[in-house]
Amino acid sequence: MTMRVSPALAPWLLAISAVAAGLLWHAGDRIAGVNQAVVTGTATVGGPFRLLDQDGRARSDTDFRGRHMLVYFGYSLCPDVCPATLAVMADALAKLGPRRSKVVPVFITIDPERDTPKALKNYLAAFGPDFVGLTGKPETVRKVAGSYHVFYEKHPLSRGGYALDHTSVIYLMGPDGKFVTFYNDESLGPDALAADLKKRV
Ligand code: NI
Repeated sequence: MTMRVSPALAPWLLAISAVAAGLLWHAGDRIAGVNQAVVTGTATVGGPFRLLDQDGRARSDTDFRGRHMLVYFGYSLCPDVCPATLAVMADALAKLGPRRSKVVPVFITIDPERDTPKALKNYLAAFGPDFVGLTGKPETVRKVAGSYHVFYEKHPLSRGGYALDHTSVIYLMGPDGKFVTFYNDESLGPDALAADLKKRV
């Protein structure tokens, strides 16, 4: 995928409108139409969650207070954008030096039927020892994703099975659990992400 310098500092309201307009929509292996919910009023990004990690332990948003969360929603069978984005996150975090421990990378699956804790554990091992993978009941995951304005839908593949089209945005949450900023994976490389994180954590 193309890596350009990110307009990482855009205000979060832009994220909302971009998501609403489908600009950050990652269309698995086809072009997806714009079908996002329109967000109006005083929207927030993120919120409480209670999910299972890759070791099968219950984890909630409050477990990560005091550290920043770098949150990305995707799925382990994604052929391109998800692994590329997780690699960018891992590479950026590796550049943080002593501040590395202040940021916990969190991958929340949007494919909980296939992304069991065990599947997440196998998948995330490639990206680093401290990635937290989260899964849960489909309706729970849907709700958590919605709180981040992340939307997704399945489409069947001609060879059988399915892929997921999904919003592709990295969110940075603060030590208080509140939204700080977002990054659009399609325009981001590890150096740009690391540089911005160094200013913020
Ligand atoms: Ni993906």
